[in-house]
Amino acid sequence: MRFKEVYLDNGATTMADPKVVEAMQPYFTKYYGNPSSIHSFGTKAREAVEEARIVIAKSINASPDEIIFTSGGTESNNFALCSIAFSNKGKGSHIITTKVEHKCILKTCKWLEEQGFKVTYLDVNPEGFVNPDALEKAITKDTILFSAIHGNNEIGTIMDIEALGKICRKHNVYFHTDACQSYTKTEIDVKKQNIDLVSLNAHKIHGPKGVGALFVRKGVKIKPWQRGGGQERNMRSGTENVPGIVGFAETVKLASRKRVEHMLRLRDKLIKGILEIPGTKLNGAKGDKRLCNNVNVCFKGIEGEAIGALLDQKLICSSTGSACSAKELEPSYVLLAIGISHEDANGSLRLTLSRFTTEEEIDYTLKVLPEVVEKLRKISPFGKALDFIAKKIS
Ligand SMILES: Cc1ncc(COP(=O)(O)O)c(C=O)c1O
Repeated sequence: MRFKEVYLDNGATTMADPKVVEAMQPYFTKYYGNPSSIHSFGTKAREAVEEARIVIAKSINASPDEIIFTSGGTESNNFALCSIAFSNKGKGSHIITTKVEHKCILKTCKWLEEQGFKVTYLDVNPEGFVNPDALEKAITKDTILFSAIHGNNEIGTIMDIEALGKICRKHNVYFHTDACQSYTKTEIDVKKQNIDLVSLNAHKIHGPKGVGALFVRKGVKIKPWQRGGGQERNMRSGTENVPGIVGFAETVKLASRKRVEHMLRLRDKLIKGILEIPGTKLNGAKGDKRLCNNVNVCFKGIEGEAIGALLDQKLICSSTGSACSAKELEPSYVLLAIGISHEDANGSLRLTLSRFTTEEEIDYTLKVLPEVVEKLRKISPFGKALDFIAKKIS
């Protein structure tokens, strides 16, 4: 019997790194001044915010004055889309995005449609990639923005943002990418990849919740979306979340290739072990085109929800669908967009690792999961048939 949880829902959120919490601590109780105040307390907080800005900028090959701190990925995405849309109305009113975006992009696009903008939702292939030719075909004289998710939160597919960015630059269309899941896991270089705007957040990478950033390339026509005291160079009003911003920078400083490789190795071990269970299929892209911490598998004939519930009894935390909308009973629109049937989408489960995931936890999961699947298939008519076929084949 295990007494400690195996947390495999790091796509939803991660444990804050104790080193990050330690770095944040003084900014709650010692240097708690408002960064806009001109006394010494304020100056100390301002210095911390500006140092953090340098760290975030450097990590994506941007300059510090191109970084705007926000309350997280949702705000950065809303800000990017709405502000670009309304600031560039003179140029056009057409936006392009994809069918596999996070809800905060899709719902913002729907709202923009209600405001009179036209939105095209591009299809993706069975691995979750947008075809760059389809993007080029969708661009019209009226197009102002293309927004595409970098690392997919459900299926882990890493979009070829360099190819997509090139097309946008060629046609003078702004390119925004939502990099909340991919940040520090795979390269983001705003210059090389022709990116105009990037959304980032801290809580997916062992930083605090409620803090993020929006990169806006110098020269991009954008107006403030949140008005007030004029913080963040007048672009995003509101007293800065100083401890959060310090923690965000600290976690970015701690990120490393070694940690990515650790996750990659355990991810591949987990995928290999799960695919040995009959009637399973990996959803999304493979190898280095997949996020280093993402596993999403379809188990034929049984419900992902039921697998998740039984895993929970064995202290393994997993998820079905998108982390943020896991309570919805509809099959995942991302899985449907890659061509999976309703039944298979309902039979899918997401397991997401972190740099704190251990080999022992993966071994435990690989011991428990086949037992859970077997148990559920025994009570599912389709599962019984599948079991029978699998036994005949082997
Ligand atoms: C791809 C993606 N974008 C945006 C968000 C929203 O970020 P936040 O929770 O910081 O608002 C998430 C989080 O679930 C995400 O996975």
